[in-house]
Amino acid sequence: MEQLLPALRWIERQTRTRTNHAQMLVGLEEGLYLRDFVCNTSSVRVLEIGTFTGYSLACLADGVRSVSGSSARSGDVFVDAVEINRELDYIIEEGLQRAGVSDLARVVFGDAVEILSSQTSRQQAGIAEEYDLVFIDADKRQYPEYYELVLPLVKRGGYILADNVTWYGRTSSHTDSKSSGINAFNLKVESDTRVESRLVDIRDGLCVIRRK
Ligand SMILES: C[S@@+](CC[C@H](N)C(=O)[O-])C[C@H]1O[C@@H](n2cnc3c(N)ncnc32)[C@H](O)[C@@H]1O
Repeated sequence: MEQLLPALRWIERQTRTRTNHAQMLVGLEEGLYLRDFVCNTSSVRVLEIGTFTGYSLACLADGVRSVSGSSARSGDVFVDAVEINRELDYIIEEGLQRAGVSDLARVVFGDAVEILSSQTSRQQAGIAEEYDLVFIDADKRQYPEYYELVLPLVKRGGYILADNVTWYGRTSSHTDSKSSGINAFNLKVESDTRVESRLVDIRDGLCVIRRK
């Protein structure tokens, strides 16, 4: 935590300076919520879909470090992340170093749907077959696909957290592809008997899904 806060400030500054999309970051309140969620659920194997400049990744990895304590270097403790755009990899890399978690977190660059869709492609990318927690924060149009692809990878009793599920209040009134993607995702989760879910009112809505 000591290293995390200055690292997050650095990532945010770099993101503002080098991109026009700083609004995509989860921000401090949600970032620390993610970190605490990892700690409270004792999650040590975490997967992130959609990393951008690594802000939420640093928060998740710091949570894993805190849970795992002295066993942090064991092979069972890790955060994998999938990001389609490798242009900002230097920010991710330095941000993780500054947060002191680069030994725990690993980013795979590529399309999450392609990577997750078969055991062979998962193996090639080094994606595990079981996670304690998955954080979804990539292309809103693909949320229903990410959900179906990651649910079998979440251990029973484990969690999926999905960001932006209220989509700035647009899901019911807008028919554009992103609103429709989030809407379809929300309906799918609500009616899915394999899981239980609740909405956390933080930033743009975080859906907390527990696999039964
Ligand atoms: C909202 S940003 C992620 C922000 C990040 N979670 C944070 O708070 O620090 C969404 C990211 O998802 C990535 N993305 C979009 N489609 C993707 C896909 N099919 N596979 C992997 N990443 C994808 C985008 O390139 C973008 O960096």
